[in-house]
Amino acid sequence: MKPVKVGLLGLGTVGTGVVRILEGHQDDLQSQVGSPIVIEKVLVQNKEKARAVQIDPEKLTDDPWDIIHNPEIDVVVEVMGGLEHTKEYILEALSRGKHIVTANKDLIALYGPEILAKARENRCDVLYEASVAGGIPILRTLVEGFSSDRITKIMGIVNGTTNYILTKMSQEGASYEEVLKEAQQLGYAEADPTSDVEGLDAARKMTILATLGFRTNVALKDVDVKGITAVTKEDIQYAKRLGYEIKLLGIAERQDDQFCVSVQPTMVSRTHPIAAVNGVFNAVYVHGEAVGETMFYGAGAGEMPTATSVVADIVAVVKNLRLGVNGQQGITAYKELKPKADEQ
Ligand code: NAP
Ligand code: HSE
Repeated sequence: MKPVKVGLLGLGTVGTGVVRILEGHQDDLQSQVGSPIVIEKVLVQNKEKARAVQIDPEKLTDDPWDIIHNPEIDVVVEVMGGLEHTKEYILEALSRGKHIVTANKDLIALYGPEILAKARENRCDVLYEASVAGGIPILRTLVEGFSSDRITKIMGIVNGTTNYILTKMSQEGASYEEVLKEAQQLGYAEADPTSDVEGLDAARKMTILATLGFRTNVALKDVDVKGITAVTKEDIQYAKRLGYEIKLLGIAERQDDQFCVSVQPTMVSRTHPIAAVNGVFNAVYVHGEAVGETMFYGAGAGEMPTATSVVADIVAVVKNLRLGVNGQQGITAYKELKPKADEQ
């Protein structure tokens, strides 16, 4: 079968993982989709920079249009981050019939409806599993696994950087600044870590989770956000003495035709399983009317866990290509629910 050709936008933490998995698991991937998945071109800012994976220098480009306008490329994988340029590239790629896989929660939380509408118009897939909770396949679970249920609550730790910081402050008494630096070196933090520590990254992820879970359009402005910058070592030690851990929790609740979404540092009783979610790990608790309580746990950031979700989305696109059903994923009709805050 003809190889499926991928254009990779970005070769940083996540992009490197994508290359490793596509190379390392090629036989397994091919056995599932029936054709090789090959990287045709890779966009970077600096072509001279040393890379952690070997890439044919001919494949590297610093011109995004080498990928977006390349007729050979079937799937554009966006792992460069950022908003306005990225949106422009993705919309243009869709208008040329390319399928999109992205890890970019900023983009999906802000421009998801516009991008998904363009995708439907062009019968293209836009998949973004890696945008929330790194290696946990939570978006697919909400859309497919719980398609039969009515979800009433989604709660969890959805930012690896802040959980890593809070864990180290709690367990080792480490200072906020030094642990943030570590999280950056480990590739967990965003290019601008303010969005992690101020709770904005978690708010974007909660926007996506609530939209898919409640099947309604939740906007980022509907999320009440508070980050961890004001949490001190003393707060953490005091909470511990009372039997609690401080966690940055995202909480989305639905009641009748209303929803409420927030992100804030929360005292979690040590008897609750979420209190034991440490380091870069994330956990998402989902309550459905029929299923009751469920909880999903795994690495929320980092090269290989995140790349696992990206490559699973590439596989899904290729399977859809085989079946000729691209552009039909997601929710067809969104419910009209109102944010609770509107009434206050
Ligand atoms: P990163 O390590 O900073 O890598 C970004 C890559 O994109 C680099 O290769 C960079 O090129 C390239 N790039 C950035 N801006 C560019 C531009 N304007 N033109 C050309 N190339 C550009 O970022 P990352 O951590 O892999 O994150 C990428 C995306 O995945 C972000 O949307 C992030 O939110 C999301 N994400 C990250 C994680 C994680 O654990 N890191 C987890 C889930 C989702 P150079 O290498 O030449 O600088
Ligand atoms: N900066 C994000 C985090 C990356 O720490 O969770 C994963 O989305």
